[in-house]
Amino acid sequence: MKPYHLLTILVYANWAEAVSTVIVIVGTVTITSSGAAPTANSTSYTNKAVFEKDILAAHNFYRAEHNATTLKWNDTSAKYASKWSARCEFEHSHGPTGENLVAGASNATTSVDVWGSERKSYNWGKPGFSEETGHFTQLVWTNTTSVGCGRTSCQGKGGTDGWYVVCEYWPPGNVVGDGNRYFKENVAKIIKGKLGDTVEGGVGSNGAGWDERRNIWSVLVVAAGVGMGVVL
Ligand SMILES: *[C@@H]1O[C@H](CO)[C@@H](O)[C@H](O)[C@H]1NC(C)=O
Ligand SMILES: *[C@@H]1O[C@H](CO)[C@@H](O)[C@H](O)[C@H]1NC(C)=O
Ligand SMILES: *[C@@H]1O[C@H](CO)[C@@H](O)[C@H](O)[C@H]1NC(C)=O
Ligand SMILES: *[C@@H]1O[C@H](CO)[C@@H](O)[C@H](O)[C@H]1NC(C)=O
Ligand SMILES: *[C@@H]1O[C@H](CO)[C@@H](O)[C@H](O)[C@H]1NC(C)=O
Repeated sequence: MKPYHLLTILVYANWAEAVSTVIVIVGTVTITSSGAAPTANSTSYTNKAVFEKDILAAHNFYRAEHNATTLKWNDTSAKYASKWSARCEFEHSHGPTGENLVAGASNATTSVDVWGSERKSYNWGKPGFSEETGHFTQLVWTNTTSVGCGRTSCQGKGGTDGWYVVCEYWPPGNVVGDGNRYFKENVAKIIKGKLGDTVEGGVGSNGAGWDERRNIWSVLVVAAGVGMGVVL
């Protein structure tokens, strides 16, 4: 059994100014998974281009299943996230962005799957923030348009397991207030696939395998990059 360490944040919105102002750490969540202990350094961590591609593809897999727009890579956020992960401190940075943390997953895709898998616990009948589902709700938050992530091989340094992944989201999700109206508006029900699907599980929303999906995503990312406004 391999423990993953997780952390997400909650944003309180200042409605008078319609901007998110206070960011609160809601605590550490530790889950266990049957994933095998990492035996080698995955290229999805060691190679920057593979890391970015896999992280973005995994995010957009979940976003497509929850009717959210495709995220673009944000270099400003990625630089910030990399600086933060390099400290090997498993805690929030208190920056202006939404932030998800995970440590100890075998590869970049699995890191995002750890967050995405929380959707099995989300209650659409009672929308809102919880520590058990906060990474997932940020992952598919409709109003978020970009993500940038960093990763560091901490291997126990600072008490942080294995590879440490930090992702920054802009505009930030997990905005609370106003009767959880923002969760209702930003966390859509699943529109294709199943709640148990994961990217590494290899079963896509359309039944396609991972390789095929990876190609589909590259096309969408390129299309979004040239301003065609692709909406899934
Ligand atoms: C990523 O890690 C998972 C185990 O957590 C493993 O099943 C999967 O094969 C790995 N993927 C790649 C591309 O190495
Ligand atoms: C993985 O990389 C780290 C340095 O980033 C190194 O200390 C460790 O030995 C590597 N692990 C393996 C299994 O190669
Ligand atoms: C998906 O979101 C769009 C708005 O972005 C909306 O018009 C559409 O009805 C939604 N689809 C489903 C199946 O909920
Ligand atoms: C990228 O993220 C930063 C915060 O890290 C934000 O200020 C900026 O507006 C974002 N850029 C885009 C194009 O979303
Ligand atoms: C949605 O994003 C816009 C910027 O694109 C921001 O001004 C607005 O405050 C955000 N709304 C919520 C509820 O997060």
